[in-house]
Amino acid sequence: MSGLITFEGIDGTGKSTLVRALAARASAIGVRCWQTAEPTEGPIGQLLADRAVRMASAPAQALLFVADRYDHQASIEAHIAAGQWVLCDRYDLSTFAYQSVLLERQTDPRHSLSEPLAWLGSLHGRSMRTPDATILLLGRVEQMLGRTNMRGGGQDRRFERVELLEEVQRRYEQVAGAAAHGRLFGLPARRVSILDATASSADLAQAGWDALVPLLDPAYQPPAAVK
Ligand SMILES: Nc1ncnc2c1ncn2[C@@H]1O[C@H](COP(=O)(O)OP(=O)(O)OP(=O)(O)O)[C@@H](O)[C@H]1O
Ligand SMILES: [Mg+2]
Repeated sequence: MSGLITFEGIDGTGKSTLVRALAARASAIGVRCWQTAEPTEGPIGQLLADRAVRMASAPAQALLFVADRYDHQASIEAHIAAGQWVLCDRYDLSTFAYQSVLLERQTDPRHSLSEPLAWLGSLHGRSMRTPDATILLLGRVEQMLGRTNMRGGGQDRRFERVELLEEVQRRYEQVAGAAAHGRLFGLPARRVSILDATASSADLAQAGWDALVPLLDPAYQPPAAVK
């Protein structure tokens, strides 16, 4: 068994923490996993990490995220072909949620698109692997942001950020619902599990495990409780 499992949610929801915990639990029962993330550390992912790229237009940035994912496909496919589960920290739903909101908000008429989400869907196309399962972490934005080191910018920037992330989170729920029902740009349906990001890391790891173990190891039996 092998495939692609993606982890989604706004900043600070605990995606990276959860991927690490699940990879450790999987390897403890002999399920081989490869942990990866987007943006990647490849050439396009490195561009995206460059502060200067944040000055680029919203469509140009969206194209870079898709280009980075395009390049990521080869290593994802290679690990799946080698019998591993690929655990990917952010993937297609991140682009659909963040970039569609940012494209809708950008005000320069030269860059305006009539249907940003549909445009992103057409860029993504059929050439990218559809995840077998996606875990979406949802939590109260203020609380999630408090976990990240949001430096500088003062109260105004923070308010803007909270408002943006609330919209991104709503978009995440929308695209995840569509993805679960095979109604996202004609992509095949995938399992979608929505988890409460405000739970403790341990509870979240357990909930993530319960959601994924039927896929990772269908024969898995939880150890009997010690009396
Ligand atoms: N369930 C949790 N409860 C409390 N704190 C948590 C929980 N999960 C993660 N954290 C802490 O919150 C911070 C952000 O977690 P993490 O880096 O996993 O989030 P993320 O979703 O990957 O964020 P980003 O989108 O910014 O990469 C870390 O300091 C982490 O230790
Ligand atoms: Mg992270």
